[in-house]
Amino acid sequence: MEIKATILCENYIFAYSNAIAEHGWSVYLETKHGNFLFDTGEGGTIINNAQFFKKDLSKIKGIILSHHHHDHTGGLLQVLNYAGKTKVYSHPELFKKSYSVRNGIERYLGIPHCREILENKGAEFIFNTTFTEIVPGIMLSGEVPRKTSFERSDTNKWLKDESGYIQDLIMDDQTLIMSTKKGLVIILGCSHSGIINIINYAIERTGQSHIHSIFGGTHLGVISKEAKNRSIEALKRYNIENIGASHCTGLETAMQLLEIFRERFFFCNVGTVIEV
Ligand SMILES: [Fe+2]
Ligand SMILES: [Fe+2]
Repeated sequence: MEIKATILCENYIFAYSNAIAEHGWSVYLETKHGNFLFDTGEGGTIINNAQFFKKDLSKIKGIILSHHHHDHTGGLLQVLNYAGKTKVYSHPELFKKSYSVRNGIERYLGIPHCREILENKGAEFIFNTTFTEIVPGIMLSGEVPRKTSFERSDTNKWLKDESGYIQDLIMDDQTLIMSTKKGLVIILGCSHSGIINIINYAIERTGQSHIHSIFGGTHLGVISKEAKNRSIEALKRYNIENIGASHCTGLETAMQLLEIFRERFFFCNVGTVIEV
């Protein structure tokens, strides 16, 4: 076994009575180069679930953050309480203040804790904007080139300047890409860059086109039906052995993917384990 990934935070849970779900995402990763945590959930489940699934947060070599949104970064402070001095890999826009506005109500979407507090708790931030190898075979995508015509940036995410709201293109969105003997293992955060753009970039940067597994937030559940269908059509053309639907995929889209990918599809929720 090269990699063991255990989903610690996700929107759904089944048959684990003392673990809990939340709108968030976090994966505990065991590798021959040490253990890592990819994202930290919203903050309401990570500690409970790490204890439930017996994943020791004090034994992690690094924390990797997919992007600045609170449902991926909200648990960071609590994780640091256990992990202590730890490298935290992320895009330099981690601390930007971003918002959504729905029905006239503005909501803060960013990381809920300031840099000083996190550093006092032991965070050692390592920022990257380009494709970066963290340990041999485990790469963080950096900013993903947005090339497809049908994958559009979120239209309801905002930054503020003197003139008012400006669109947040969420260029800080990063994906974890692992190169294994069985093929690529791609762990998505929220796929704000577009799942097809992400796959294309992973293939381009690694030179590997067989995808052993791809799982995480696909973003397919929160975009227009037309964009979703075009992305799903495009997905069929890749050599994907296992595809796991999580987080911003939603149940309806997960069912659509199940219909298409059948035995290659899996629900990827709290407690799901992927071994490669
Ligand atoms: Fe997000
Ligand atoms: Fe998310």
